[in-house]
Amino acid sequence: MSCILGSPLSEAGGVTITGVDLSSPLPPSRQEQIREAFRAHHVLVFPEQVMSREQQFAFIANFGEIERHGARNAQTKRYTAAHVISNLDKDGNPVDRSSSPVSNYRWHTDKSYYPVPPMLTALYAVELPPQGGDTEFANTATGYAALPEATRGRIEGLRVVFYWGAGARKGGGSELSPTELRDHPPVDHPLVRTHPETGRKALYLGNHASHILGMPEAEGRALLDDLLEHTTKPQFVYTHRWRIGDLVMWDNRCLLHRAVANYEIGRYRRVLHRNVVRGTVPF
Ligand SMILES: [Fe+2]
Repeated sequence: MSCILGSPLSEAGGVTITGVDLSSPLPPSRQEQIREAFRAHHVLVFPEQVMSREQQFAFIANFGEIERHGARNAQTKRYTAAHVISNLDKDGNPVDRSSSPVSNYRWHTDKSYYPVPPMLTALYAVELPPQGGDTEFANTATGYAALPEATRGRIEGLRVVFYWGAGARKGGGSELSPTELRDHPPVDHPLVRTHPETGRKALYLGNHASHILGMPEAEGRALLDDLLEHTTKPQFVYTHRWRIGDLVMWDNRCLLHRAVANYEIGRYRRVLHRNVVRGTVPF
């Protein structure tokens, strides 16, 4: 039996896949079916999955090399398991960090400040607030395609400087420390990147994008702000409303995403298991 694809979840992307148990090894034909759906819909939602962190890791490893999470993180010892992300402090109490300028509540793509950013990210919902705690995805390929031709011509060939903490700087936060700069030196990627599998062009920008290479910083930031505003309009966005047991994987090469602070973050627990798969150098 093959997987069952639902109707597209939005104009911007997303599809639900049922009839598959991700906790068991999948035959190559199913893996290929999932890859095909991923290329077509960019966000895959597998509801009602029951899986351990190790089983999640094994499933996601079908799509490429899974990146190690946090060199200084104690979880590194369990490298063959998904890592845990949550709104909990070290004592297990919910804490609201949503106002941090480097928080994942701002539009971003994961690790875009790396020379080789990841192709996909997967999250599995373990604990959720009674409502809210959504994740939004903005399709930067359809956003790019909808730009006026003159704008597409103007931005062709431009490169964006990314670094960890760029969002903090733009938000009036402090400059990065020498240690932070050493750990995360700035990188530059094309503003218009080509999806290596579909060939479609997409904007590459977001919270870790600082400015445009070779352009006055203020001018470059204004351009990035305008493009971000454009590609995150409602017609380019899919909002995922989580249910316990959802495994969601998305394509970082043509999507921005952000967590939505639409619940009492300091009151309710929200725990998900995460994997990130290594990508290729954007071109
Ligand atoms: Fe993220």
